[in-house]
Amino acid sequence: MTIIDGKQTAAEIKIDIAHQVEQLIKAGGKQPHLAAILVGHDGGSETYVANKVKACKECGFKSTLLRFEDTITEQELLDEVEKLNLNPDVDGFIVQLPLPKHIDEQKIIEAIDYRKDVDGFHPINVGRLAIGLPCFISATPRGIIELLRHYNIPTSGKKCVILGRSNIVGKPMAQLMMQKNYGDATVTICHSHSQNLKEECRRADIIIAAIGQPEFVTADMVKPGAVVIDVGTTRVPDNSRPKGFRLSGDVKFDEVSPLCSHITPVPGGVGPMTICSLMINTLLAGQKKIYN
Ligand code: GUN
Repeated sequence: MTIIDGKQTAAEIKIDIAHQVEQLIKAGGKQPHLAAILVGHDGGSETYVANKVKACKECGFKSTLLRFEDTITEQELLDEVEKLNLNPDVDGFIVQLPLPKHIDEQKIIEAIDYRKDVDGFHPINVGRLAIGLPCFISATPRGIIELLRHYNIPTSGKKCVILGRSNIVGKPMAQLMMQKNYGDATVTICHSHSQNLKEECRRADIIIAAIGQPEFVTADMVKPGAVVIDVGTTRVPDNSRPKGFRLSGDVKFDEVSPLCSHITPVPGGVGPMTICSLMINTLLAGQKKIYN
């Protein structure tokens, strides 16, 4: 059994990005610039955004963090998005989700210029992904593809079960796993209303768990020799930890891992790769490699 080291893989990719940025600047190009909008003080979002800013430094990018209180109105936030759309120094930007309830997330996502949408959430990027055109690919699915490639895990023709149908992970993951030049796999998506979910999982060569239910995938759902990718990052109260919580994956690691050929841990598996993929997208945005 191999434990997939997302932290190490991400570190290697970020070093490679930093070299490319050096070359870009040496050749007279502009330093890639990622901006992030953070609304409110959600603990998880604060951590994610801080890690994104840190990763920008490691890659040699410029970064700008724009913070707003959760009293910001939808129109004010739309105006901030438009400012970033029009700022020629900003190559790409993200609006950290979730947003406060009085703001329509989809409206904000659709207001982002798709050519700067390094999260890959805009319908133009989502649609282009679906038909195999160059686009910004959503960071978590892209990170998982990078991990599978890095560990030379065969996917072509394999049966891949994805647990979860979210716009951010499940759906784009399915697109990538089915496409010929990415996963080239036979893909099944299971969700909260799927019948025979356990049986589907037991037949899978690759399980990608992204349902946000701690320890949902148990040993009786996993075929010996399967590859298990755990996208879950639920905060579970734990008084023995300094912060009073620990991160729990969607997989019961202790009982599932002995069965697997490969498995990602939580933390240190998919998480670091998600941020790394955002860096890849930012480099592509800076190089104008996807859209001019
Ligand atoms: N919230 C959880 N994951 C993400 C992400 O990948 N991008 C943004 N913008 N918000 C998130």
